[in-house]
Amino acid sequence: MTPTRTRNPFTPGSGKSPPYLAGRENEQNRLREILADMADGDSPAADMVMYGPRGMGKTVLLRWLKVEIGGNKKLIHFYKKRNSVRACSTTANKLATPAKMWTFLLSEETLAEKVLGGETTAGVKAGASAADTVSAEAFIAKTWKEKEPTDGVLLNALISQCKKNPLVALVDEAHTMEPGLCRSLLNLSQEVREEAPFLLVLAGTPGLSHFLTTVGASFVGRSEKMGIARLDAQATADAIVKPLQEDGITVDADALEHVVEDSQHYPYFIQLWGEALWDVAKQKDLQKLTAQEITEVETKIENRRLNFYGERRATLDDLELLPAAVAIATIFQDTEITTRDRLKEIIADNLPVDSHATQSVNEHLRTLIRHEFIWNPPDTDLYEAGIPSLMKYVLDRQREHVQETSPAAE
Ligand SMILES: Nc1ncnc2c1ncn2[C@@H]1O[C@H](COP(=O)(O)OP(=O)(O)OP(=O)(O)O)[C@@H](O)[C@H]1O
Ligand SMILES: [Mg+2]
Repeated sequence: MTPTRTRNPFTPGSGKSPPYLAGRENEQNRLREILADMADGDSPAADMVMYGPRGMGKTVLLRWLKVEIGGNKKLIHFYKKRNSVRACSTTANKLATPAKMWTFLLSEETLAEKVLGGETTAGVKAGASAADTVSAEAFIAKTWKEKEPTDGVLLNALISQCKKNPLVALVDEAHTMEPGLCRSLLNLSQEVREEAPFLLVLAGTPGLSHFLTTVGASFVGRSEKMGIARLDAQATADAIVKPLQEDGITVDADALEHVVEDSQHYPYFIQLWGEALWDVAKQKDLQKLTAQEITEVETKIENRRLNFYGERRATLDDLELLPAAVAIATIFQDTEITTRDRLKEIIADNLPVDSHATQSVNEHLRTLIRHEFIWNPPDTDLYEAGIPSLMKYVLDRQREHVQETSPAAE
């Protein structure tokens, strides 16, 4: 029997929700807890900073949160109810100006009634309903310029909006925000939170924590951190098996164990495996997948992975950080974690030729973190490997290179 779905349900890529969101129960429970408090009128104590290496599932978790809050059509009738929590979401590149930030935070109603003047509701709606969002945006921009609403007016409008309907504002790729705008957003978040239930959720790569400390909002170190890391073995198996089961496909226990291990519990690779297994079941009209099918698709997966790693290694090479990356990968052969000081020592011994200042060691460390070669997960001051297992790839390539170039080579 072929799978019942005609399209492959797995989603290797970026931001698309997987067919089964596995292993995020702790994060989901924590977020639900905050939402429940907000619905009771309580403000969260701090902003939420969600961070993790690329491909771990930050965007997917933000999407889940948005649906949980009310993007879900089944819940939409609660939307207008007093105290029901609302969500607004965006990516940092869309928040280019203060006007865009405020139109993101303020509901259309608040914007029209309290900021732009009641008569503008029709204008905003006309622009939007003409299925021409550009003209709606242009309209807002023009009116904004004419009215020049002050920050105080806007802040008060946001506070009264949140008193009626608590707001969760989600910003993805927050590490790419314009620093001045990010500071304004953090400051206003603190001010609103003091008066009404409001939660700012910033999601980004491991460089986000450092970026936030540089924008000049001193309290940001006290934000709540949510690290988005690899799944455990059971969640990895579930993420693959459950969607396949829906189409009547099962996987042999041994074969599954191999797939789980090979995916390194990394959500992006998990989806790659799921996609390949579904495809092979469909092509060969199979209901049960065994080690034979795993072997058949393994090369395809490995090739996609090599391409993914190759691009990242090339970036490290462009940054002249390959020698430091190789040295770090070497110590990670014997350990899963290490200290910041140890990393700095290794970097200092392997600096690009033209850098000498002690400050540059910190800069290089930050660059390696920004490019997800290493990262500092929450609840520890230790560092672990970022994208799995880029370190192994970097070492393998280095060994090949040494073999090719050593005088002993034939
Ligand atoms: N909990 C999960 N279970 C199964 N698959 C997941 C899970 N979370 C994410 N994925 C899958 O992993 C891939 C990466 O997810 P996502 O794009 O959300 O990562 P990200 O952390 O936002 O990456 P980036 O930093 O590149 O934006 C996608 O293919 C997604 O479907
Ligand atoms: Mg993302």
